Amino acid sequence: MMDRDAGKALAAGAAVAEVTDGMLVGLGTGSTAAHVIRLLGARVAQGLRITAVATSRASAAQAEGVGIRVLDFADVPRVDLTIDGADQIDARLFAIKGAGGAMLREKVVAAASDRMVVIADRSKRVAAIGDAPVPVEILPFARAALLAALGEGAVLRMRDGAPYVTDNGNQIVDCRFDLADPAATAAWLDGIPGVLGHGLFLTEVDAAYIAADGVVSRLER
Ligand code: A5P
Repeated sequence: MMDRDAGKALAAGAAVAEVTDGMLVGLGTGSTAAHVIRLLGARVAQGLRITAVATSRASAAQAEGVGIRVLDFADVPRVDLTIDGADQIDARLFAIKGAGGAMLREKVVAAASDRMVVIADRSKRVAAIGDAPVPVEILPFARAALLAALGEGAVLRMRDGAPYVTDNGNQIVDCRFDLADPAATAAWLDGIPGVLGHGLFLTEVDAAYIAADGVVSRLER
């Protein structure tokens, strides 16, 4: 089987081929999206003219390091194309995202994008999303109440002995849900006061490039 990182790079290359001069590109977060930023940086060095917005401080720093001009998303009304990774993706183009903690910014950038493409090695491709934690970004003020509301499988994400803090200054609860009806679960989460975002992406993804054994297959909505 192909090395997973090689698969991520291959899928990233296929998606980066969609980027053309003048685009405003949304940059995802994580180890797969890092390949996109690296490849885009190489194309910028060869003369590609793009601007970008980043879904995390880490991606912004990487992009600036490879010569990509990164704009403040607060000033950007629309994005042409966003390319991002996922923790799971299925044939419906339903995805779970947020193992890297950036799902809130990833979702708002995806929602502002004319096109959103997920890239992944084949380990992320599943028959139906469900067998992975769904990260939920919460208002720290309401932590105990939200842990109780999110149910038995809810675990506060920790790092170095303290609650993990997102780029937005919030915390994350990783949840185990029965995703027989993902839309119902997403609607329920969206309605809980103090839940600021979550990793269920059910409407945002327009296409996916999945690499397996050196071949990239494309799913299109
Ligand atoms: C970041 O919060 C996530 O949504 C990532 O896009 C997702 O976890 C995939 O990350 P990797 O590409 O590192 O697996």
